[in-house]
Amino acid sequence: MHFRGLLALAVALLATRPTALADETTTINPSANFGTWEGWGTSLAWWAKAFGTQTTLADIFFTRNTVTFNGQTLPGLGLNVIRYNAGATSTNKDPDGDVMVTSPDIKASRQMDAFWLDWTSTNANSSSWSWTVDANQRNMMALAIARGANLVELFSNSPVWWMCYNLNPSGSTDGSSDNLESWNWDQHAVYLATVAQWAATHWGVTFTSVEAFNEPSASYWVGPTGTQEGCHFDVNTMSNVIPFLRSELNARGLTNTIVSASDEKTYDIAITTFNGLSSTALADVGRINVHGYQGGGGRRDILFSDVSAKGKKLWNSEYGDSDGTGSQLVSNLMLDFVWLHPTAWVYWQVLDVSGWGLITADNDAKTTGAPSQKYFVLAQFTRHIRPGMRIIDGGSSYTVSAYDATAKKLVIVAVNTGAAQIINFDLSKFTTPGTNGALVQRWATQIGSSGMQYSAFNDTFISGTKFWSNFGQNVIMTFEVSNVVI
Ligand SMILES: *[C@@H]1O[C@H](CO)[C@@H](O)[C@H](O)[C@H]1NC(C)=O
Ligand SMILES: *[C@@H]1O[C@H](CO)[C@@H](O)[C@H](O)[C@H]1NC(C)=O
Repeated sequence: MHFRGLLALAVALLATRPTALADETTTINPSANFGTWEGWGTSLAWWAKAFGTQTTLADIFFTRNTVTFNGQTLPGLGLNVIRYNAGATSTNKDPDGDVMVTSPDIKASRQMDAFWLDWTSTNANSSSWSWTVDANQRNMMALAIARGANLVELFSNSPVWWMCYNLNPSGSTDGSSDNLESWNWDQHAVYLATVAQWAATHWGVTFTSVEAFNEPSASYWVGPTGTQEGCHFDVNTMSNVIPFLRSELNARGLTNTIVSASDEKTYDIAITTFNGLSSTALADVGRINVHGYQGGGGRRDILFSDVSAKGKKLWNSEYGDSDGTGSQLVSNLMLDFVWLHPTAWVYWQVLDVSGWGLITADNDAKTTGAPSQKYFVLAQFTRHIRPGMRIIDGGSSYTVSAYDATAKKLVIVAVNTGAAQIINFDLSKFTTPGTNGALVQRWATQIGSSGMQYSAFNDTFISGTKFWSNFGQNVIMTFEVSNVVI
């Protein structure tokens, strides 16, 4: 039976039953334009250092093919944004005879190799540089690019250890003061620009952007006993480093590689940092990156209005949570679409410990487990809202919508967190709201610990200027409507 038939039955039942099935309508607003979608991504760093040679993982994350993994069939996520982590760690002595100070709490899997070994020479061909290190992360970058990843960011969690006051790339002694030595502000920029230049000439990789900071206002997770590479930067220091980075990139002919900043941990800190940057530094910034660790809190709307008023792009360049059900991810991603309006969205580590990873993995033991429901929840977005689409207004807090002008295709992703109900999608504001009676393809995933995993259905049809679907509780669905004209 067609779903329309089921619905007619349901409506007939409703007429006779006092406990009516709730019924919701959202009106898609095609006149809104929240920008052209640039893509979905992941940072490489730790998982790619551990698993960088595994082509099956590259197929899973960077294609939209159907991929068999540990006996299970997975819909590839089709990520096209990758963030390559320029490491801060090396084991050599510096010219003063000092060695790196290592946090007692950092796992080996989180120590990322530095290419610049000592300050003796800035010449990338000299023995001060090693270009053979970090082979696995570089390999995964190449596998991703070969599969279509086209936006590549170079980012740093900490300057190379020997540029730091305490020689410890996990953070300064008190965590809350700068660790980059002031006489090395330019050297940090030289490091990143040299890696970018070497990537262009030797690896065939053109970085889209370079980010010199990671959660730079943080103080509580960085420090000499930190669990990863990290570094605090005062806003004033950021304003000094950014122009150095711009000019070092220019000096190497990388004028099209933009500088991004400042990858703050929360929306609210990002607002303060953005407004605290000098006008000189801000002029050198091509994009604002923010992390999504404020969850449901924070003034996404203010960050968006401040950043867009200055004509800058905005990415959610790092999101992660420990909830493997996908519930937190959906809730925060919907808030991002409605209030933050990023043009790209990047998950932190697609392979990680249970809960955090889309696929459970242990980077030290180098073992992988099963994908969580969160994997399939994210697929509902990444496989359908594609680069080049225009983000429009889904008309409600539980709906996002994108439009592909070339294919005349409308994409709608909606979630129902309340009791089971029918949600109507009103397309009456479109010049052509699809074709009456035409198929609307849909995909559904159960948010939770089990249930539907990106199941496909051909049971939904346009009726006049709308269509509808019966959502179970905590179900996320994606719809594709053809022949739509804004
Ligand atoms: C390194 O050497 C190569 C070939 O000898 C040369 O083309 C390149 O310009 C040099 N790079 C730097 C940074 O000096
Ligand atoms: C739905 O129909 C489309 C277009 O005919 C087809 O490509 C797709 O495989 C069908 N999906 C299912 C689940 O039947």
